[in-house]
Amino acid sequence: MASLPTTFDKPVHIAVIGGTGLSQLEGYIPIAALNPDTPWGKPASPIHILSHGDINIAFLARHGLHHQFAPHEVPNRANIAALRSIGVRSVVAFSAVGSLQEEIKPMDFVLPDQVIDRTKGIRPFTFYEGGVVGHVGFADPFDKKLADVVKTCAASMEGDGVVLHDKGTLICMEGPQFSTRAESHMYRSWGGSVINMSTLPEAKLAREAELSYQVICMATDYDCWRSTEDVNVEMVIKYMQANSKNAKRLVGAVLDQLSKPEHKDLAAASHWVGSVEGAIKFM
Ligand code: ADE
Repeated sequence: MASLPTTFDKPVHIAVIGGTGLSQLEGYIPIAALNPDTPWGKPASPIHILSHGDINIAFLARHGLHHQFAPHEVPNRANIAALRSIGVRSVVAFSAVGSLQEEIKPMDFVLPDQVIDRTKGIRPFTFYEGGVVGHVGFADPFDKKLADVVKTCAASMEGDGVVLHDKGTLICMEGPQFSTRAESHMYRSWGGSVINMSTLPEAKLAREAELSYQVICMATDYDCWRSTEDVNVEMVIKYMQANSKNAKRLVGAVLDQLSKPEHKDLAAASHWVGSVEGAIKFM
């Protein structure tokens, strides 16, 4: 990795942010590794630029190359600012989640269309501060066009053991401790489908930075509402490893689709809803 160049020839508009169990993308040719300084520090890991047919893809490991950042320690602002600064416009993120519903079984994929913020406001969650005032809409936190691409890809892999629930409400909790049983039941009563610790503030910052963003979730456990068992990391890793091949295949199929000329608009999509123009200086 140290020997990879720090420059690349073609623009990079699409990024994958990998989470637990997806700390690298195999089968692509790495052509550069960038570790840009941003006003919010360095990203969690160097951004790998991968050659994919006619286009380049960026890959960033959210928790660091050695999974050294706990969910509350992830440098989300630096991650998003770094991707934006190299030209990225669309982000497909990946996350392991607990299931809050019987029909979402471990190893199923879920494409949330809503999120409930249960982080505790202790993670830096906005670029707007220190005299830079702005507001963005977040009623629909995920990108419908990216979601449609993921749905199409998953449908074509149905016979291959890929099960995708094509909507749902994600609860993003603070962690690093898992929920209590009472909390888990409460999230179910709220209509929660799945739960994780990492989609916020990532998705909010992506919106502020005008990036289209969709998270693909993979269920690794039933949280603690369903049995007397506790959730534990071994359980999460066991299912993650068991299904990592499908996770990589699904992300690969999505990248194949996004690199087609008909999705050029998506690669350059913008969700600017209103703020102080030019207020954010990413580099
Ligand atoms: N990530 C994976 N499983 C989880 C759970 N049950 N709660 C929160 N985050 C998770």
